[in-house]
Amino acid sequence: MFHLQNVWTLRLWLSVLLMLWTLDGCEGNYYLAHPNATEPEESEHPYAKYVVSIQSISPKMKSNRSGGHYYFGVNHYCVGTIISPTYILTASHCVFDNRLRRLLQPHELLVIAGTPNRLRPTVHTQVLRVQGLRPYMRGKIGHKHDLALMRLQGMLELNLSRALGIAEMALLPPRPFSNCTVLGWGQSFVRGPFAELVTQRIFQLQTDRACHKIFPISFKHGMICATVHADAPLDVCRGDSGGPLFCGTKLTGIVSRGVRCDKSYPAIFTGVFWHRHWIQTVYSRAGRSWLAKLLLALTIWRFSNLLVD
Ligand SMILES: *[C@@H]1O[C@H](CO)[C@@H](O)[C@H](O)[C@H]1NC(C)=O
Ligand SMILES: *[C@@H]1O[C@H](CO)[C@@H](O)[C@H](O)[C@H]1NC(C)=O
Ligand SMILES: *[C@@H]1O[C@H](CO)[C@@H](O)[C@H](O)[C@H]1NC(C)=O
Ligand SMILES: *[C@@H]1O[C@H](CO)[C@@H](O)[C@H](O)[C@H]1NC(C)=O
Repeated sequence: MFHLQNVWTLRLWLSVLLMLWTLDGCEGNYYLAHPNATEPEESEHPYAKYVVSIQSISPKMKSNRSGGHYYFGVNHYCVGTIISPTYILTASHCVFDNRLRRLLQPHELLVIAGTPNRLRPTVHTQVLRVQGLRPYMRGKIGHKHDLALMRLQGMLELNLSRALGIAEMALLPPRPFSNCTVLGWGQSFVRGPFAELVTQRIFQLQTDRACHKIFPISFKHGMICATVHADAPLDVCRGDSGGPLFCGTKLTGIVSRGVRCDKSYPAIFTGVFWHRHWIQTVYSRAGRSWLAKLLLALTIWRFSNLLVD
C-alpha cells in the first residue's frame, strides 16, 4: 500500500526534475564554420584568441545587400570574451533589444570564435548558438552594472590550436595610469562600417576622482574610465561594446560606453574586479544544477521504491 501524499510528492518532484532538464539540456552544438578555410595569418594581437564576435541571426538584421544571401560575419554587433568553454562575458546592453525594450532571446544570437577577421572564417572558427542569457540586472537596460553572461549551447573546442583561449579575470582592483588593451571590431570612423580585422587600442586608466569630475552623474563605483592613446584613430565606438579591456594578462574591464566615439573623452568600462563574485556565482550555480539533478534522480528512485512497497 502507498499513501496518496506520496503520489503527489512524487508528481511534484517529477515536474521539478523535468523543468530542470529542459532548462539545461546541454547538447553539443558546435561546428566548424568552414571546413575548407585556409590557415589564418598569425594574428599579431596576443589577445585576439580571447574575443568572440556576437552576431544576430534575426532576419531583420540580415543584410540584403548581397541579394538576400546571408554572408558570414555581417551581423556582428557586439564583442564578448571567453571566460570558460561554455561562458562568454559581455555587456548587458548587448543582450537587450533597445528598440523593443526587451531581453534578446538566446535563439536570436550566434557566437563566433577564432575569427580575427570577422568576415573570413578560418579552420579554427567555431560558431555556437546561445543557450541562456544572464544580465547582471534583469529587466533593466541601465548602464550601472553593464555586464552579462552568455551560456553557450555546447562547448568551445579550446584545444584546437592557439586560436582560442580562456581569459583570466582580474583579482585585484585596476591601477590608475596603467596602459591596457581594448579589442573589438567597432567602427573605425563615425558611422563607418565595422572593422573587418579585430583592432587593438591602448587605453590609459584614469583615477576615479578624474572620472567623477568628467562624468559626475554616470560614473559610479564599479566602473573604470580610461582614455585612448593619441595614436588611435578613435575611441571605442559602435561594434566595440561588450569587448575586453586587458591590463597585462588580466581581463579588467568590459567596454560599456564612450562619448560619440570621441577620443577627447574617456570611455567607460564595467570593472571586472568588483563583479567577480557575481560572475563566479553564475558559474557555480550552473555546476550545482548537475548535482541537483543527481539528487532529484535519487529522490525519485527512493519514491518509486515507496510506491512498489
Ligand atoms: C573543399 O574540400 C573538399 C574536400 O577536401 C575538396 O574536394 C574541395 O575541392 C574543396 N573546395 C575548395 C573550394 O577548396
Ligand atoms: C533582397 O534583394 C533581392 C534581390 O536584390 C530583392 O529582389 C528583394 O526584394 C530584396 N528583399 C528585401 C526584403 O529587400
Ligand atoms: C587538449 O590539450 C591538452 C593539453 O594541451 C592535451 O593533453 C589533450 O590531449 C588535448 N585534447 C585534445 C582532444 O586535443
Ligand atoms: C602609459 O603610456 C604612456 C604613453 O605612452 C606613458 O607616458 C606612461 O608612462 C605609461 N604608463 C605606465 C604606467 O606605464
